[in-house]
Amino acid sequence: MLEVVSTLAQWRGLTESLRAEGRSVGLTMTMGALHAGHTALLERAARECDASLASIFVNPLQFNDPSDLERYPVDLEADLGVCERSGVRAVLAPPVAEVWPDWPAPTPTVVHVTGLTEVFEGAHRPGHFDGVAGVVAKVAIATGECRGYFGEKDFQQLSVVRQLVGDLGIPMTVVACETVREADGLALSSRNVRLTDTGRAAALSLSRALRAGRDAIERGDGVLAAHAAMARVAAEEPEVELAYAAAVEPATLRVPASLAPGAVVRLLIAGTVEGIRLIDNVEAVAGAAP
Ligand code: PAF
Repeated sequence: MLEVVSTLAQWRGLTESLRAEGRSVGLTMTMGALHAGHTALLERAARECDASLASIFVNPLQFNDPSDLERYPVDLEADLGVCERSGVRAVLAPPVAEVWPDWPAPTPTVVHVTGLTEVFEGAHRPGHFDGVAGVVAKVAIATGECRGYFGEKDFQQLSVVRQLVGDLGIPMTVVACETVREADGLALSSRNVRLTDTGRAAALSLSRALRAGRDAIERGDGVLAAHAAMARVAAEEPEVELAYAAAVEPATLRVPASLAPGAVVRLLIAGTVEGIRLIDNVEAVAGAAP
């Protein structure tokens, strides 16, 4: 039977007693609206840990646009059903006042990861990653020693979480989980349901552009050629307004000046389709093509 907890003190007590019984803890943090991408994280945590735990919390601090927060879909009963079917043992579902007692006034303590948060999605959504870092730190500290499951779909978020966990010595082992895609390559996102059929077809150009960029890197053509290939493929689809397409070092998110054979890069892309911002990414290894 799924246990639902609404305070951080109860959550801390629960995770401490699980570890005292010798059970390993897996944590998947979510904002609800759970889809197959989340299910993959929850199920992996259930496979790899004795107790798979999840949090469902629509974190207001990470919405820089208040209308986005208002429109965010909330259906706790449905999400709890998904958790139960995915082998989750307990869910933390706190009210906003439990996590951020000052809200809607700003929280005095801001968790800011410099560098990684000022580029790409961070440049587009000022303050967003401070909100993410704040809630990840708070929930992870309350959870204690655990494995934390995060999707590669939000690669910049994953990089921020890794940096934060290392810098603050939070006892969470970050586990990166591969992006779940539809059969045609579209990365799963809670935003996809807002696309029309035409928009959805146009959105596929982002994953096509990533494949073109990866081909360029794997042929050994270099970073600038990969940027050009991605921009060219994205431009073939007039419905897509490209925000960026870049090959970056995975840990720093900096564009490398050059690539030695075997160097690993992440190709990041973002674009707007029908007013909806979509992001995607893939890994590429320089000169890996046979
Ligand atoms: O990826 C998300 O759903 C959120 O950014 C997270 C990590 C749950 C923090 O609110």
